[in-house]
Amino acid sequence: MQDKTTDVPIIFLRDFDELSDKIKAFEIGGTDYIIKPCQQEELLVRIETQLKVSLKLKEVKKENKNLVKKLKIIENSQPVHQQMPLESHLLYQAIAATNNSIVITDANASDYPIIYVNPGFEIMTGYSLQEVTGKNCRFLQGSDDQQPELEQIRDCLQKGESCHVTLRNYRKDGSLFWNEMSLSPIKDESGNILYYLGVQTDVTDKKKLMKPNKDIKHLYRK
Ligand SMILES: Cc1cc2nc3c(=O)[nH]c(=O)nc-3n(C[C@H](O)[C@H](O)[C@H](O)COP(=O)(O)O)c2cc1C
Repeated sequence: MQDKTTDVPIIFLRDFDELSDKIKAFEIGGTDYIIKPCQQEELLVRIETQLKVSLKLKEVKKENKNLVKKLKIIENSQPVHQQMPLESHLLYQAIAATNNSIVITDANASDYPIIYVNPGFEIMTGYSLQEVTGKNCRFLQGSDDQQPELEQIRDCLQKGESCHVTLRNYRKDGSLFWNEMSLSPIKDESGNILYYLGVQTDVTDKKKLMKPNKDIKHLYRK
């Protein structure tokens, strides 16, 4: 796809339901896949959602660019021996950005049902869009639903604010992963919240790396 059109959402409207065609559609850059016949209302809401996701992604990319610029300024002002961790951090940011999972929930329907997940979510969790549509994201917690961070999410949703938390979640195959997520409201021009956007990253590897470091610090304290 051309650079200029990479941000344009592409929705495939097909009159047959074939897995290989769906995979091909997403591989060549499709953002959604709808099988005909399809209700006009559903089509409209999907198009609207894709446009909002596309706008949000543009904002995230812009923010990332600014962040990279800021980090470069800090990096250049530091002695060489202090530059490595910053580079690693940048690398981590870049990897996180490309592996992001995106979820949109309906803020005006009861219990924030999922109306859209991107292929990144499907890869991260093992669940398909069809399987999760209409569900609340809490199903990813399984029975591990006593995590203190959940209170933060409830509070943020109740106040209509943004929040950033990391939770233990479980893939379709039952395996645990650490899900770092940013939740933010998507508002209309009048400030009414229409949807909630979740941008998630599987940070399991990062958590594993942090654990031995903690142990080392603990040894030094002794
Ligand atoms: C857009 C959005 C995405 C969310 N993504 C996740 C997720 O990936 N994993 C998860 O465990 N909870 C996620 N949540 C949080 C749950 O849906 C729910 O709000 C949380 O479990 C707290 O509410 P509860 O106490 O009613 O379960 C998400 C919420 C929103 C609004």
